[in-house]
Amino acid sequence: MIALRMMVLAVVGALLMTQAHALLAERDVYPSECQGSFSVPALKAVNDLCLQCENETRDRTTLGKCKANCFNNSIFAGCLDLLQLPESEKATYIKHVRLLGK
Ligand SMILES: *[C@@H]1O[C@H](CO)[C@@H](O)[C@H](O)[C@H]1NC(C)=O
Ligand SMILES: *[C@@H]1O[C@H](CO)[C@@H](O)[C@H](O)[C@H]1NC(C)=O
Repeated sequence: MIALRMMVLAVVGALLMTQAHALLAERDVYPSECQGSFSVPALKAVNDLCLQCENETRDRTTLGKCKANCFNNSIFAGCLDLLQLPESEKATYIKHVRLLGK
């Protein structure tokens, strides 16, 4: 019985660690899809926008979708609308995406 419990604990622990790695990779590593100009500030700005959007949609898959193809996707565009940003701010985010992905 004790051995079984230890095994279950080990499996759950391993799963949690795998998930932590996935989260880290998704949230903190410079995306390999971004093959344009290297800009941490631009990346941080669009990443924060996606985080706000994930918060707003209350859907934990939003961040990943919003970041897909280096932020060049319809979810990102939808987030710009959802967050009801002024046109000038929208334009700035779109410039960031061009910079990162060109
Ligand atoms: C997340 O959303 C809630 C309500 O929708 C809001 O009050 C909160 O400030 C938001 N947090 C961030 C970090 O945007
Ligand atoms: C976004 O992707 C499309 C093709 O899917 C490409 O034509 C376009 O140049 C990309 N835009 C940016 C800003 O990278």
